[in-house]
Amino acid sequence: MIDGRLLVERSIPWGLVGGGLGSQIGYVHRSAALRDGSFVLMAAALDIDPERGRSFGQELGLSAERCYADYRTMFEAEARRPDGIRAVSIATPNNTHFEICKAALNAGLHVVCEKPLCFTTAEAEELLELSRAKQLVVGVTYGYAGHQLIEQAREMIARGDLGEIRIVQMQFAHGFHSEGVEAANPATRWRVDPKFAGPSYVLGDIGTHPLYISEVMLPDLKINRLMCARQSFVKSRAPLEDNAMTIMEYESGAVGYLWSCAVNAGAMHSQKIRVIGSRASIEWWDEHPNQLRYEIQGQPAQILDRGMPYLHLNALHDDRIGAGHPEGLFDAWSNLYYRFALAMEAADRRDAHALRDIRYPGIEAGVEGVRWVENCVRSADQGGVWVDYR
Ligand SMILES: NC(=O)c1ccc[n+]([C@@H]2O[C@H](COP(=O)([O-])OP(=O)(O)OC[C@H]3O[C@@H](n4cnc5c(N)ncnc54)[C@H](O)[C@@H]3O)[C@@H](O)[C@H]2O)c1
Repeated sequence: MIDGRLLVERSIPWGLVGGGLGSQIGYVHRSAALRDGSFVLMAAALDIDPERGRSFGQELGLSAERCYADYRTMFEAEARRPDGIRAVSIATPNNTHFEICKAALNAGLHVVCEKPLCFTTAEAEELLELSRAKQLVVGVTYGYAGHQLIEQAREMIARGDLGEIRIVQMQFAHGFHSEGVEAANPATRWRVDPKFAGPSYVLGDIGTHPLYISEVMLPDLKINRLMCARQSFVKSRAPLEDNAMTIMEYESGAVGYLWSCAVNAGAMHSQKIRVIGSRASIEWWDEHPNQLRYEIQGQPAQILDRGMPYLHLNALHDDRIGAGHPEGLFDAWSNLYYRFALAMEAADRRDAHALRDIRYPGIEAGVEGVRWVENCVRSADQGGVWVDYR
């Protein structure tokens, strides 16, 4: 049970790049990082517009001298301070992640970076090597993975409740961009511009979320080859897609399907994962994250609820309130952020054993997301052919 006691030995002095006034995800980072006292916000370069960033930083309670005009100035100035930041989160548009993450690691900082980690697998692997060389943690905010019933699903699959795994059915298919809303909305506009978004829109922006959940639930599942088709139903978005369908074959013989879509008119998030085994299936849906559906062939379906004593201990560990009270995405993100902090402390102690036991989306998950997108785009741009996963 999490109840407000510090989960880390000492709150980590923390900085934020991006996530400025009016941004979509800045507040989620701040609330998740600060929630359990694992981090304390000491410095920031919050905005592409330095003045707006400076004034917003002060509204957040930062001292004026630690509201920086840009991230490079912040890393340099903070490195000179005895009380300088030890970690930084990056919540800027995708095109900046690689350079900011690299600069942060070179400045000796632990990092929490938004997804997609960067544009190419080569860049992602460079960040992986750098983080290993520097013995620094890079967390990636696949925030939904902090929902506790994902841990329950992982345990049930591992102990064989579903039988042999045959099919993994995934989707993140919202309807918010069914029309060209980007004409009036800058936060959508950069998402459909390859200069800022990278080689994909929905594959990287939302498809990577259920992909990571599948990696948590099914850690042994490795993709062998995949086939992807992508479309731009709002024509001005081409070459970036607003819909993509990916079929995967895994080394185990199981198959997977992942639908990434921003034009699913009428749908809210519609992020789901269904794992189908030879005996039973489970299904988790992010719009009802406190419930896990468990269907055994030939028996009535069961709904497993968060917080109940019949769950595995790993699915109860991060309870913040008793069963029956809904927990949500802010709680899930907080669960990830405290684990990022624990991992950073363990890395600083050079405690490889502790590090191995802390589950969080790290740099490997970031690399895998980028690799998956790259393979999907390679397949789609050849007309939707099977490509070996590499
Ligand atoms: N993990 C999730 O569930 C999730 C959800 C939403 C967005 N995201 C990711 O978060 C990132 C930001 O998305 P958003 O929707 O908040 O974007 P946004 O356009 O709403 O906000 C971006 C913010 O970054 C600032 N910024 C841009 N360039 C900067 C720079 N060089 N230095 C400092 N600040 C800079 C902008 O001024 C703005 O405040 C993207 O990579 C996106 O994919 C992740």
